[in-house]
Amino acid sequence: MSKTITCSAPVNIAVIKYWGKRDEELILPTNSSLSCTLSQDQLQTRTSVSFSPTYTKDRLWLNGKEEDVSKSARLRNCLSETRRLRSEYEASLEKKGNSSVAKLSQYFVHAASINNFPTAAGLASSASGYACFVFALCKLYELPISVSDMSRIARTGSGSACRSLFGGFVAWEMGQLKDGSDSQAVQIAPETHWPEIEAIILVVSDAKKATSSTSGMQTTVQTSELLQHRISEVVPRRMKEIIHAIEQKDFKAFAEITMKDSNQFHAVCLDTYPPICYLNDVSKKVIELLTAYNSGPDGIKAAYTFDAGPNAVIYAPKANIKELIQFISFYFPSPRSNPTAYFPDPLKIFQ
Ligand code: DP6
Repeated sequence: MSKTITCSAPVNIAVIKYWGKRDEELILPTNSSLSCTLSQDQLQTRTSVSFSPTYTKDRLWLNGKEEDVSKSARLRNCLSETRRLRSEYEASLEKKGNSSVAKLSQYFVHAASINNFPTAAGLASSASGYACFVFALCKLYELPISVSDMSRIARTGSGSACRSLFGGFVAWEMGQLKDGSDSQAVQIAPETHWPEIEAIILVVSDAKKATSSTSGMQTTVQTSELLQHRISEVVPRRMKEIIHAIEQKDFKAFAEITMKDSNQFHAVCLDTYPPICYLNDVSKKVIELLTAYNSGPDGIKAAYTFDAGPNAVIYAPKANIKELIQFISFYFPSPRSNPTAYFPDPLKIFQ
């Protein structure tokens, strides 16, 4: 018996940033976060997973290149948890008197994953990658679990991956429990809630970042005093405020919180010792331009946010996108901007 499942999953970009872990192994964060899931039209990971009695070990290929599964605790976390749940499910079916339960949990798995976006886009592919891998494994094993349950497993692959399991606006609730069973993603509003908002990605640099998110946030937790203020006071307040702004479709409030949170995340990086600087001069110019753009009579018309790298993601109402691209193109004559429609897709399954 053998079987193959192919799934796709979207990228998400945080507006309240996750930065810091309280448990490195279970990937439990020091603060809650919130993101927008981008449409899969231009950015998605697609993963096929299969099992077969002929496979002799778990194997995974990433964009055509084989990864050593035995050396990646994160990949093993996802494989072993989905396999454990499958074996629990098989036992429960047998207990109910089902004597012909397929023992899928005993087979090895092969997985192949590709991103349809160039690495040059500088986007964290681990979020869509692990979300897709876990979702595909859950479908392969026919697990009767919720999407939030799946998000908890994806979290143990890469923290931000838990948010890519849902479309629309998604919160990752940090949780309080030591075992991480309450640290999961929840959908705040579906992709249909606020379709007027779009995202533009400005590729400032396609160079690989010098400090990975994983090691950067580790040093921040050890050394930044500002982080303590951020996680105890600022983020809990901002989470409430941005959820309210999303519910009310209040773009000005949403945009202001988004830009302030990006600024504070990068301030925390600079407060890390030795300091981490993800923004470069072009990123700073983008911040300056957007600040000027937002200081006209109409007030805030667009919001920038930067992850652990120099590339900008700009959120703006559809009505402002053309003007915004013209404005940016005027200052950066050959912009490598990549407008991407926003929201429509949660996860897809191809069988
Ligand atoms: C700046 O999820 O890539 O993009 O959990 O160690 O895999 P690990 O880190 P990762 O960190 C993402 C950090 C961020 C902010 C965010 O997406 O919330």
